[in-house]
Amino acid sequence: MADLATEYMGLKLPTPLVLASSALSNRVDNLEMAEGHGAGAVVLRSLFEEQLEAAGTALDEELSRGAESSPEARTYFPPQRVGPHEYLSLVERAKKALEIPVIASLNCCAPGSWTEYARDIEQAGADALEVNLYSVEADPQVSSAEVEARYLEIVHAVRAAVRVPVAVKLSPYFTSLAHFATRVDAAGANGLVLFNRFMQPDISLEKMAALPTMTLSAPSEALLPLRWIAMLHGRVKAHLAATTGVYDAPGVLKQVLAGAQVVQLASALVKSGIPQLGKILQGVEDWLDKRGLGSVDAARGALSQRAVQDPGAYERAQYVHLILSQNI
Ligand SMILES: Cc1cc2nc3c(=O)[nH]c(=O)nc-3n(C[C@H](O)[C@H](O)[C@H](O)COP(=O)(O)O)c2cc1C
Repeated sequence: MADLATEYMGLKLPTPLVLASSALSNRVDNLEMAEGHGAGAVVLRSLFEEQLEAAGTALDEELSRGAESSPEARTYFPPQRVGPHEYLSLVERAKKALEIPVIASLNCCAPGSWTEYARDIEQAGADALEVNLYSVEADPQVSSAEVEARYLEIVHAVRAAVRVPVAVKLSPYFTSLAHFATRVDAAGANGLVLFNRFMQPDISLEKMAALPTMTLSAPSEALLPLRWIAMLHGRVKAHLAATTGVYDAPGVLKQVLAGAQVVQLASALVKSGIPQLGKILQGVEDWLDKRGLGSVDAARGALSQRAVQDPGAYERAQYVHLILSQNI
């Protein structure tokens, strides 16, 4: 039987599957269920910078409007929101209930005194912190260099505030993602979580209004983190965590072969239920056994850009070849 034990940012995980920060990871019974079905760690739902700056009311209204607009989101975003005190209590309760590592999550877009709150989360017992850098940069006067400098300031501030490992969850929307990833790495991040999914506004033709919506991912979206994990593996010290579009054992194995240390799941478990984790793990184990690979470590990075015979497969070269070969 293949060994699924995984080290993630210095933490010991029994398996490489992680319950992603989501509406599911807001309740201790869900976290326990995830552990029971083989999760190697859990990431709690985010606490938002706006909640910490005590300006949460407007955000709450905005979020509830968004939740009402989409039936899917209505199902998965329960109306109750957690504030800072409830969050610390969630961390404490999760730690008491679980043996696997509990990773807390802060969702933010600008540096501020709120970063000190990271220390309280650490004291509440979190084994690590995931910092989700999430902003929609709409001001044409603000350059990408300024945005990146602001993000790095956040990473430095959180890194300085705590001793536990810090993972940084990024969006894919950087002009030079590889460069920025290496800067986050140099700023002391122990993990890079690739990628964030953004709430995307839609337009209702009936209501003649813009509607914030958040839908579950589709399996095809997994190709985006797959490429970047393959390209960053071996080029940054930080461990790489894949998130977006992973639904099954092949999906997990592909990310691991590209170089992911762990694979996070949200949509698949919202859709099929947390016990799905067990089925996915069984599939991963079966495949490793069939290939004669004794452990998940033996598979990790075997198809990263550095390891494959044709590194161009992950870059533009392959794009040109594919486009020119299409004749419809
Ligand atoms: C209902 C729901 C709530 C989410 N809440 C958060 C959150 O609070 N913080 C966060 O960093 N990501 C959040 N996410 C994003 C997930 O952690 C994950 O990165 C994303 O959904 C892509 O993975 P998936 O394809 O497995 O869903 C949420 C996702 C869903 C579906």
